[in-house]
Amino acid sequence: MPDFASRDPLMPAFWDERFERQFTPWDRGSAPAALRAFVAQSPESLTTAGRPPAVLLPGCGSAYELALMLDAGWDATAIDFSPVAVARAKALAGRHAGHIVQADFFTYTPHKPLDLVYEQAFLCAMPRARWPEVAERWARLLAPGGLLAGYFFFDDVPKGPPFGIERAQLDALLAPHFDCIADDPVADSIPVFAGKEHWMVWRRR
Ligand SMILES: C[S@@+](CC[C@H](N)C(=O)[O-])C[C@H]1O[C@@H](n2cnc3c(N)ncnc32)[C@H](O)[C@@H]1O
Repeated sequence: MPDFASRDPLMPAFWDERFERQFTPWDRGSAPAALRAFVAQSPESLTTAGRPPAVLLPGCGSAYELALMLDAGWDATAIDFSPVAVARAKALAGRHAGHIVQADFFTYTPHKPLDLVYEQAFLCAMPRARWPEVAERWARLLAPGGLLAGYFFFDDVPKGPPFGIERAQLDALLAPHFDCIADDPVADSIPVFAGKEHWMVWRRR
């Protein structure tokens, strides 16, 4: 691993440095299969409101998933607090670049109520002490019936990122506000997540 100046993943500089030096082992390079299937199926709860589902992609990194959602007609916004990540995502997004915003997840206020929050290597980018705040914010961002969907990384190695979670810990974190409605193994993981991640959908109560 290269020698980095920034060691604190709570700071944008940590991520800037890694994107700048192209050390991004979490980056899948494209939108993953379970998400593709989920978007193709467009769960009923996302489409019954008679308007495109409003979606947030927190800590979007390269934001490959954004184009998939926008092309499906979803009203998606991707945010990241790293200016270098945002510049990369915008460069990759082309005509969709206007849907990418530099913002901190903990202070960002969406311009409309959300139907879906997409999770992909964001929780595991956070030191564990920050997880309760992430879960609280997910819960605040979503009205009852809203969905939290994406990839959850299970591991017990103390050092990170990625900081893995244990299933009981995830349940304890989310059970106060969410019910788990899907939990599937993942077949197309990249090496850093292989055998240790699940595609999950949680519904806000
Ligand atoms: C491990 S990367 C994952 C990126 C992307 N989701 C992916 O799967 O390729 C974590 C991302 O979260 C961003 N991030 C970390 N803390 C953040 C915060 N408080 N607000 C917004 N973005 C944040 C980082 O800048 C980084 O791009």
